[in-house]
Amino acid sequence: MWALLIALTLWSPLRTEGAYFSQFSMKEPDHDPCYDMAGRPVRCVPDFINAAFGKPVIASNTCGTSGPSKYCSIREDADGILREHCDTCDGSVRDKAHPASLLTDLNNSQNMTCWMSEPSTDYPHNVTLTLSLGKKFELTYISMQFCHRLPDSMAIYKSTDGGKTWTPFQFYSTECRNIYGREPNVQISKHNEQEALCTDAHALAPLANRIAFATLEGRPSSFEFEKSPVLQDWVTASDIRIVFNRLSPDQAELYGLTNDVGTNFTDLDVIKQRYYYSMGELAVGGRCKCNGHSSRCVLDKMGKYTCDSILTNVNTFPIAAKDQCGKCRVIPKRMNQKKFCRRDYAIAVSVLGREQTNGWIKFRILIEDVFKAKSGSFASRRGEQALWVSYSSLACKCPKVRVGRKYFLQGRDASNDLSRPGISLDNHSIMLEWNEDLIEKIDRFARREHRGQCPMRRKMAP
Ligand SMILES: *[C@@H]1O[C@H](CO)[C@@H](O)[C@H](O)[C@H]1NC(C)=O
Ligand SMILES: *[C@@H]1O[C@H](CO)[C@@H](O)[C@H](O)[C@H]1NC(C)=O
Ligand SMILES: *[C@@H]1O[C@H](CO)[C@@H](O)[C@H](O)[C@H]1NC(C)=O
Ligand SMILES: *[C@@H]1O[C@H](CO)[C@@H](O)[C@H](O)[C@H]1NC(C)=O
Ligand SMILES: *[C@@H]1O[C@H](CO)[C@@H](O)[C@H](O)[C@H]1NC(C)=O
Repeated sequence: MWALLIALTLWSPLRTEGAYFSQFSMKEPDHDPCYDMAGRPVRCVPDFINAAFGKPVIASNTCGTSGPSKYCSIREDADGILREHCDTCDGSVRDKAHPASLLTDLNNSQNMTCWMSEPSTDYPHNVTLTLSLGKKFELTYISMQFCHRLPDSMAIYKSTDGGKTWTPFQFYSTECRNIYGREPNVQISKHNEQEALCTDAHALAPLANRIAFATLEGRPSSFEFEKSPVLQDWVTASDIRIVFNRLSPDQAELYGLTNDVGTNFTDLDVIKQRYYYSMGELAVGGRCKCNGHSSRCVLDKMGKYTCDSILTNVNTFPIAAKDQCGKCRVIPKRMNQKKFCRRDYAIAVSVLGREQTNGWIKFRILIEDVFKAKSGSFASRRGEQALWVSYSSLACKCPKVRVGRKYFLQGRDASNDLSRPGISLDNHSIMLEWNEDLIEKIDRFARREHRGQCPMRRKMAP
């Protein structure tokens, strides 16, 4: 499975880029992959997603944040001729602002919105972008779509501890040795699989506007990834940092172009307008990562992957704080005649499966026995039904509902909520784990009720 996915990831940039990335970013699983259709937990490999989408990016430097600045770029015009065009960036004007939030906003290819650093002739011209993914992911690639010239020298770092410490992931430079002190284009063997390499490959395609770092490309153990703790560790990250150190040479000078105002190329202010970094999209392909065998990735109620410990909590909702969980009326200490009489139905059910919906868990139940029910009510129908329990009740383990178990269930026929057809648990319900000793008691309660032997309701004062 991994080999296939890796192959897909590596080959995909060759396809139509926009289509691939928007497809990737939009992908939303339609059911929880960590449970099978019967609601049993299964080994789950979460889908690959663009983990960067909508996540915050912090730039050390952004064009136009301390007043308007002029910048220029070379574009091919409709007539096919390269010309320099100049504009201003201004953080206080919506159409002229280029904040880092545009990097992860999914406005790609058709109308790319760009982050831009302040033009500068400083050397080295170091600018940093830091992306927080919010949790650990196993990353397959980091893709950067540039709006302007590619950087000449750039380093990618990763953190696995939320940005406290950083380790190098990859370097790009035409001068790997001088700038990063690394040999260029080193061959990867089994011995240096967890080492950041430096490459000048990006400089070989001067017209390209995308640099994609495939985390496993060329690493021998990638074909047995599941067996390689070294590579599993290598691809794990919670934060990504991109440090630009040097821009590629200025094309206007290279091509001997003049701009729309007849630039004097010895004028430093004018040269400065061409020296900035600009990126349109930062995408990170990855899948949710959880450590150890005691936890797995699950979808939370917002549809986001989170880690969930299967040892302590099979259910996939946050455990409520103790003081949010009041006394549980659903699980009474004792059953008695009065409780039996006061409820509309009494049934025995098996829990077949579970699904999550907004704020509620929907269990599929099989009504096996009906001891009492109003005719026509959901509870009166043997066979499959839905049982709705709110997240907050389950979070308090009130009740604890397990797929595959059998329960005794009593409750009132609530006013029908069309959005939740079936049986809903409320604070008048009773739910007990089934045991055969219950039958005798229930039969006795049912017989007495039938004979009109229910305890009297207390009379209201007139
Ligand atoms: C970016 O895309 C989103 C969703 O497609 C859209 O709502 C938003 O207006 C776009 N923003 C810009 C600046 O084009
Ligand atoms: C792209 O952006 C330009 C300028 O911001 C705008 O005029 C145009 O309508 C946009 N096109 C699309 C397809 O959103
Ligand atoms: C810029 O980055 C380079 C490479 O990481 C580093 O050696 C240098 O000290 C940095 N310079 C500044 C001014 O931060
Ligand atoms: C270009 O700019 C430099 C410095 O500003 C100035 O000395 C020189 O005269 C200018 N040359 C032209 C042709 O304008
Ligand atoms: C019963 O539940 C409702 C909401 O579901 C709550 O407002 C009410 O206080 C509860 N009553 C008791 C007696 O717990």
